[in-house]
Amino acid sequence: MGKRVVRIAMNGVTGRMGYTHHLVRSLLAMRERGGLELPDGTTVWPEPVLVGRNPAKLAAIAEAHDLKDWTTSLDEVLADETVEIYFDAQTTSEHFPALSSAIDAGKAVYVEKPSASTLAEAVALAVAADTRGVPNGVVMDKLFLPGLRKLRRLIEGGALGRIIALRGEFGYWVFEGDWQPSQRPSWNYRAEDGGGIVADMFCHWRYVLDEVVAPVHSVYAQVATHLPTRWDEHGQPYSATADDAAFAVFELDGGVVAQINSSWATRVFRDELVEFHVDGTEGSAVAGLQRCRYQPRAVTPRATWDPDAPPGYDFRAGWQEVPDNGATGNAFERQWEAFLSHVVAGTPFPWDLWAGARGVQLASLGVQSAREGRKLEVPALEAPAS
Ligand SMILES: NC(=O)c1ccc[n+]([C@@H]2O[C@H](COP(=O)([O-])OP(=O)(O)OC[C@H]3O[C@@H](n4cnc5c(N)ncnc54)[C@H](O)[C@@H]3O)[C@@H](O)[C@H]2O)c1
Repeated sequence: MGKRVVRIAMNGVTGRMGYTHHLVRSLLAMRERGGLELPDGTTVWPEPVLVGRNPAKLAAIAEAHDLKDWTTSLDEVLADETVEIYFDAQTTSEHFPALSSAIDAGKAVYVEKPSASTLAEAVALAVAADTRGVPNGVVMDKLFLPGLRKLRRLIEGGALGRIIALRGEFGYWVFEGDWQPSQRPSWNYRAEDGGGIVADMFCHWRYVLDEVVAPVHSVYAQVATHLPTRWDEHGQPYSATADDAAFAVFELDGGVVAQINSSWATRVFRDELVEFHVDGTEGSAVAGLQRCRYQPRAVTPRATWDPDAPPGYDFRAGWQEVPDNGATGNAFERQWEAFLSHVVAGTPFPWDLWAGARGVQLASLGVQSAREGRKLEVPALEAPAS
């Protein structure tokens, strides 16, 4: 069926996510494999047009990857009718104005999470995209990770029975930036710049819980700023005004209780940087980014409480590795494949701006719950029936 070139304006491509995960490991990796082949034989060939503020950085990236097009003018790229998709991996506070303009210009839009800084803006984007009739999507990469895909397979196959509870541990030590550089940008630790672990992570927890386990009904969160001073990209100290840890309990459909700790001020004693331990009547699973392990009811060891005796049993040895069965590869690239196929061939893509708004909703309710010290219900948030 031939080759179909899709020109994609990529904004924020000098950043951590935009460059490494979306440009290099997704679209350029796709090109290295010869493009994306659709079921009808069409080969989709992504053609990035780099967009940003710093011409020298854009030119250097373009040259390093043999790309022709870059610009510092968002207006220019949105006026270019050969550009079909606008992708945004800028800092979160910049998503709303740029996406609004892209939707107005009739582009298909795809954006890093959170889709916007506030729920009102996130909903406004979803409404605008529906009104304009443009394909739209929000990055929900964790769903495409091998570990979570294997967990989902276990749950869908009934291996866990009725799910009772989930315990999630996310986090690692993010260096303060004084004697070792921080691994994350400083805006993440300033509330006034859209930072904070609740804003960052609860949109992930929303789609993971909703789609892999069960829909979220309520949230209770307690937050903290454990490290009040950090050092920025120029080595200057600044006040960390945003939360860097959140301890949350979510109630899900069917009475499932999900408790998730998120912290940038904890040291890892786990196998992966995030792990979800899910208990069900027929079995339990522990899923990380890559791995997923499972213990069925029939081989559950009889643990007995005796604090005076050594454990006597290697509890980890009783778990079984869940095989990949095709669940491999880069999560961001897998979702790009789904989005490109949606834009070009109209295949379903449920991870739209409404799903993105539900993530922003959970984050804003999490912040409110922590401020007010109480559990909050999560109201339904759907596209109005047309
Ligand atoms: N899916 C995930 O797992 C994941 C992980 C981390 C971050 N993110 C999201 O990706 C987005 C970018 O995060 P990042 O960690 O790559 O940040 P970053 O600071 O590394 O990159 C931000 C990009 O936006 C640009 N930018 C910064 N300020 C700007 C401004 N005022 N106007 C225009 N452009 C500006 C920068 O030049 C850079 O290209 C955020 O929305 C963040 O929430 C997603």
